Amino acid sequence: MSHTLGVVGAGNMGSGIAQKIAAEGFDVVLVDVDDERVARGLGAIERTLGEAVARRVMSADAAAAARARVHGTSRLEELADADVVIEAVFEDRGLKQDVFRRLDTICRHDAILATNTSSFLVADIASVVKRPARVLGLHYFYHPAKNHLVEVIAGPGTDPDVYRRAWALQEALRKIPIASRDAYGFIVNRYFVVWMMEAVRMLEERLANEATLDAVTKAAFAIGMGPFELMNVTGIPIAFHASTTIGRGYGPMYGPPERLRQQLESGELWPLDGEIDGGVHDRVVERLMAITFLVAAALVDEGVGSREDTDLGARVGLRWSAGPFELMNQQGTARSLALASALATKWNMPIPPSLARAGQSNSPFPMALVRSEVRNGIATLTIDRPDAMNALNEAVVAQLDEAFRKAADDAHVTGIVIAGAGRSFVAGADVRFFVRHIEHADVDGIERFTERAQNLLLEIDNCPKPVVARIHGLALGGGVELALACDYIIAAPGASLGFPETGIGIYPGLGGTQRTTRRIGLGLTKWLVETGQVISAGEALAIGLIDRVVPHEELDVAAAGLITSGPVRARQAAPVPPSHASLAAFFGANDVERIRLGQAETNGDDRLVAAMKAVGTKAPIALRLAATLVDEGATVPLADGLRMELAHLREVFATKDALTGLSSIGRSRPVFEGR
Ligand SMILES: NC(=O)c1ccc[n+]([C@@H]2O[C@H](COP(=O)([O-])OP(=O)(O)OC[C@H]3O[C@@H](n4cnc5c(N)ncnc54)[C@H](O)[C@@H]3O)[C@@H](O)[C@H]2O)c1
Repeated sequence: MSHTLGVVGAGNMGSGIAQKIAAEGFDVVLVDVDDERVARGLGAIERTLGEAVARRVMSADAAAAARARVHGTSRLEELADADVVIEAVFEDRGLKQDVFRRLDTICRHDAILATNTSSFLVADIASVVKRPARVLGLHYFYHPAKNHLVEVIAGPGTDPDVYRRAWALQEALRKIPIASRDAYGFIVNRYFVVWMMEAVRMLEERLANEATLDAVTKAAFAIGMGPFELMNVTGIPIAFHASTTIGRGYGPMYGPPERLRQQLESGELWPLDGEIDGGVHDRVVERLMAITFLVAAALVDEGVGSREDTDLGARVGLRWSAGPFELMNQQGTARSLALASALATKWNMPIPPSLARAGQSNSPFPMALVRSEVRNGIATLTIDRPDAMNALNEAVVAQLDEAFRKAADDAHVTGIVIAGAGRSFVAGADVRFFVRHIEHADVDGIERFTERAQNLLLEIDNCPKPVVARIHGLALGGGVELALACDYIIAAPGASLGFPETGIGIYPGLGGTQRTTRRIGLGLTKWLVETGQVISAGEALAIGLIDRVVPHEELDVAAAGLITSGPVRARQAAPVPPSHASLAAFFGANDVERIRLGQAETNGDDRLVAAMKAVGTKAPIALRLAATLVDEGATVPLADGLRMELAHLREVFATKDALTGLSSIGRSRPVFEGR
């Protein structure tokens, strides 16, 4: 996307949003009222980028490039060419409306205008412009360059296409979007602010002091800061303002307690150094759970957001260890209903019907891990575990299987698109699942899962309707294997693909050693599988691993275009491009063991030397099995090759290297012993 984005307001949020946009490679114009405030915003960006360099999450070059993409100005007119403008001025309705009126006259007629308001409705803001169809809410969370969550809110008149474009832009910015209806507090603040107010109420009732309430809350929700410390950091006025506006929408239970007003008027922060009273633990936790459950179930029943997005908002935006619905399922819905009912009686609030139903039978809330949407005859199946990078596990495979069959059997569906939610396509299989099974000496479980997933991929492969893999972000291991089962693979320019398995002690077991060869030939398949090299979308296109690279926003249109060209009947392996001829020849001709030991002839070719070195760090048994599977699989029908992949699973998962490698993820690089 050759986009220019605009951000209005260079304060805490605006500067952070602009920083994120620039860090993801887009140009951004950042506007504030005068040069001094612009400079302050740019200074904040520089500081945060500097911190990222110091923590080594970003290179100095990347930080400098990001900084150079931000243009600061005090002239709103400089947004005349922007494609998307995000407003983040003070939380003042009149001021925001004024900014939107001005943007309406300045910006291109096809520009998208978004507000980052926390407590007003998108409708209030869209009502002042001549193009309400192009207005929506993009509600980011502090710090917007670090917190991945964004709520995407359609106003009453937002054009669905504008909404989809804004959503795709969030993916391109590597955010995790959730969909909220235009309602006070949207999804997350609705339960989060009232949760904070309940803590203040317990203080008001002298049930516990601030230190106790913070300590209990931190432990119960596995979070870094309790409600009082959090208010001290983010501002007591903001908490007061948020609860006041949400309270106006939903009633006094949501509004600020008198004790909060007193604290606000005192101008002091909450004192956090009181003595901790362990005796009230259970009562405090019950109160906080009760309010969270009551409000979360109410907002879902009202259609403000889905259960899945409500939970995702808590995990990603608030960094709770589990969202409200997962907490209810953990505690049992009967107990959750009892807790919420007591609170509902106190405030004379209705009991949400879904909670009443689940609680009466004590059955868990079902949680969807795959979203299905049919539009214009195309079914899009989105794997929706974005905070786990959509990793495949038993539940995901089962749900994807069900959704796929339904779409395949639906006479109104002409083609199917498989996609991932959030920042990635699919980052592989769920490694924790493997580790758990190895530790319990249950390789049978791994075999069952692999077979089930292989069968799903075969179903995709054999589907008479065209199937497109829509890749953005990471597609690793099982992610690439899932894509390879589709007729077409399209990717956004920022996507990356690879087979990291041999570097974590295993081999690709969902067709990676089979279907890859059928797409790109033996030599390059071995190169990818043996080195674990992660390649860009551009390189994947060059070697024929994928079919098309299109700008992120155009992925859906491109997928629809390919669907009209029908399924692919028989695929020939792509010819090796000259750029990769030496790699293909090297890996095609040399025995993997010689490469691993650094004994293959490279003729001083730097790329081959580097590739050989990479192979030297991989798990020896996994490497040998992977190479054999590629070789032998190339001479037999696909189904036989897949059976071979399955047949060697026990051997590889029984190795010490598999446990070492799989447990190493997120830690230092594993050292393999070859056993
Ligand atoms: N702080 C948070 O945690 C948070 C989280 C989500 C959303 N929000 C929302 O984001 C918005 C901004 O919040 P913030 O915390 O960044 O506030 P802030 O006070 O840090 O920054 C607001 C900025 O807007 C500028 N501004 C005011 N009028 C302007 C105008 N006419 N043109 C251009 N700039 C103007 C101000 O000079 C200031 O720099 C608010 O709507 C807030 O509710 C805040």
